[in-house]
Amino acid sequence: MSEPKKLYIKTYGCQMNVYDSERMSEALGGQGYVETKSPDDADMILLNTCHIREKAAEKVYSELGRFKGLKAEKPDLKIGVAGCVAQAEGEEIMRRQPLVDLVVGPQSYHRLPEMEAKTRAGEKALDTDFPEEDKFEKLKNRPKAKRGPTAFLTVQEGCDKFCAFCVVPYTRGAEVSRPADRIIREAQDLVERGVREITLLGQNVNAYHGAGPNGDMTLAGLIWELNKVDGLERIRFTTSHPNDMGDDLIEAHGTCDKLMPYLHLPVQSGSDRILKRMNRSHTAESYLRLIERIRAARPDILMSGDFIVGFPEETDEDFQATLDLVEQVRYGYAYSFKYSTRPGTPAAERPQVDGEVADERLQRLQAMITRHQREIQDEMVGRTVNVLFEKPGRQPQQMVGKSEYLHAVHVTNPDLAIGDLRRVRITGSGANSLAGEVI
Ligand code: 5AD
Ligand code: SF4
Repeated sequence: MSEPKKLYIKTYGCQMNVYDSERMSEALGGQGYVETKSPDDADMILLNTCHIREKAAEKVYSELGRFKGLKAEKPDLKIGVAGCVAQAEGEEIMRRQPLVDLVVGPQSYHRLPEMEAKTRAGEKALDTDFPEEDKFEKLKNRPKAKRGPTAFLTVQEGCDKFCAFCVVPYTRGAEVSRPADRIIREAQDLVERGVREITLLGQNVNAYHGAGPNGDMTLAGLIWELNKVDGLERIRFTTSHPNDMGDDLIEAHGTCDKLMPYLHLPVQSGSDRILKRMNRSHTAESYLRLIERIRAARPDILMSGDFIVGFPEETDEDFQATLDLVEQVRYGYAYSFKYSTRPGTPAAERPQVDGEVADERLQRLQAMITRHQREIQDEMVGRTVNVLFEKPGRQPQQMVGKSEYLHAVHVTNPDLAIGDLRRVRITGSGANSLAGEVI
């Protein structure tokens, strides 16, 4: 048998990219590739890029430039760009950086094996179409490799919301849901391979409306189906839009035993004026009322969110409204970003907020979020939680896992194994994690 070829994938950005990278690796596995951790001994390098923030494209070009020496030494090395920058830039990437052999958009990963063969024949391969087929179905030639206890599973892709700052509707395309039976089969397959917790992924995951046996299914319907999968212990989902939080999904948080009490529900701003300009089609008040209803269904739910500060025309008053909203919600986790222009999006044309003003706001918001985060984490001390252990810790005999609220928990106990799900009493709260003991 010939030596396996080596594949180096570098993944940027969101969990969906992590999931996609796994699928690409499996697809190329069929072509005789095994993954390597170093670009230096790779036969193919793939950058799975993200376009959501920052100067994404420029970063990719500078990263690619660094492979020049490697490619000169090893003419057979193939270099590919995948992900949202590939989708946004397309052919331009090969024009600007001739060492790139392959450019593949997120909707075309099932075509990677043919594309790889094309590059081996000395041609360039480009595919940034939005085909109608289910790429994940085509990517299914999985070896039945053992997996860790947690996995992502993409159920929905794309977005029709067109928030004024966001590139996702352009790079990931229109919203598409995968049929429920395929998702359930994939979940069963993951469980057979050792997975106990699945996070359902979608850019707008709670807008899920995939074909089920009796017409379209909602996300709640899908979660109830997954709740029946033996051996699956935990279900999570991300990312949700406030306007798609159906009654059945809210209710499921109170009644579905495998659905974890954690919800990532980005609001972006607490100012109605800014929300309107962001094209968010909800208000601060409607968002707060929604959270009240979710908390009525599941009082201990831990809320998480995303914020953008310094969105065009944001005033001190608008920003204060964001702080007020955060003070009311008290997020267990929240991610806040300084607005950054994405060419081609509506907000890019508007008057920008001064960079230093935005920096100062971001610091204030992050300080408040960190304070809440810390308080909520500290309140866990003395409580009993369930921990799914994922990996060894730094100390001898220490294991790290996640509670149902997604807090990292360290436990020192020689009897613990990866994949164990145990009751743990929380005994301490550190900077970014909890400590506890098995009971
Ligand atoms: N600038 C800053 N943050 C952004 N996000 C999306 N687009 C931008 C942008 N242009 C943030 C949003 C979103 C998260 C994934 O990234 O808060 O929820
Ligand atoms: Fe982007 Fe999310 Fe808005 Fe869709 S809902 S446009 S993915 S921020």
